[in-house]
Amino acid sequence: MAKLGESDTNLPQTTVSLSALNLNSNSNSEKEKVDSNEKTNTSSNNQSASNSNVSQVVRFKTGLKNTVWDCMRDRGWKETDSDLDWDFFWADVHWIHETFDHLTRKDLLVKNVKRMIKTVEKEYGKQEAQKFEFISTSYVLPQEHALFQEEFKRTPGGIWIMKPVGKAQGKGIFLINKMSQISSWKKDPRIKGKGDDESPEAYIVQRYIENPYLIGGKKFDIRAYVLVTSYYPLVVYIHRNGFCRFSNSQFSMNVKDISNMYIHATNVAIQKHNPNYDGDKGCKWLLRNLKTFLVTKHGTKKIDELFTEMEALVVRSLMSVQKVMINDKHCFELYGYDILIDDNLKP
Ligand SMILES: Nc1ncnc2c1ncn2[C@@H]1O[C@H](COP(=O)(O)OP(=O)(O)OP(=O)(O)O)[C@@H](O)[C@H]1O
Ligand SMILES: [Mg+2]
Repeated sequence: MAKLGESDTNLPQTTVSLSALNLNSNSNSEKEKVDSNEKTNTSSNNQSASNSNVSQVVRFKTGLKNTVWDCMRDRGWKETDSDLDWDFFWADVHWIHETFDHLTRKDLLVKNVKRMIKTVEKEYGKQEAQKFEFISTSYVLPQEHALFQEEFKRTPGGIWIMKPVGKAQGKGIFLINKMSQISSWKKDPRIKGKGDDESPEAYIVQRYIENPYLIGGKKFDIRAYVLVTSYYPLVVYIHRNGFCRFSNSQFSMNVKDISNMYIHATNVAIQKHNPNYDGDKGCKWLLRNLKTFLVTKHGTKKIDELFTEMEALVVRSLMSVQKVMINDKHCFELYGYDILIDDNLKP
């Protein structure tokens, strides 16, 4: 695990996110935690706080009033309704989604980054703000349908990618090149809710990157694991052993191929059904092998810059959600970042 700021330039530091998969987010459940003055042992399976010579008592918080609550009380723990001043929080799923989805839900990530761009532009100018433009132009549908329509007309012939805001593994993703493919928004069977009355699933529509960097004629993207142990101050670790995932079909921007997700999406969940997929070989490379390959082709300086830029993008994406994340010393966040590099080596 490489902590940002360390000077090891060989680290496969990584990534920016078009999307980020929250793999295993906050840990405010059963894990052992010791508060900052190290007086209170808050392990869920360690009752020492209540029956040893440690004087402080565990402060717990939960919205539940069932066995969970009984168990915590039985341990001699004390209930608190404070937002931050607790040692142990048994949160319900709804709270977790409300509180921690800012980076992992595609629509919220887009909104947070757009807001960040405006703020940075106001405070530091356009040039600095441009550094935060690491997500392709995106609109949240159906809310920003009119804005999207305008942009679509302004750049005729462009290809856009449609992604459901809350799904992963390439599910529900498709490409469009005509407004008619989504103008009857509610009627498209790919978007429509299950029942007739159900509102359509929220999507983001995003400018498709038509010039990805290709290796052997195939598209790939990088997956990096990013651990955030604190949002204030921002403390981020990026795992050295990221990998990249390849498509198993030759890349093509031919219009007749735009519905072929074996060409356009690199998710293993999709590629493993590709008739060209070789189960023994898989479709992944270690990031360090990618780096070696790229260095051989483009030289160390250029590729070091690329990796430094990817690292900066991770930090910028986290800065974009920093204000809306609850900074909690009890929790860590582990994200899977997907990053695409274009043929100008721009992440
Ligand atoms: N704007 C884009 N331009 C080109 N390719 C894209 C773009 N967005 C996504 N892709 C391709 O589609 C794949 C899936 O997209 P993405 O990672 O955003 O969604 P997901 O994998 O379904 O969800 P998540 O990564 O949030 O779990 C990516 O791995 C990438 O290959
Ligand atoms: Mg993905």
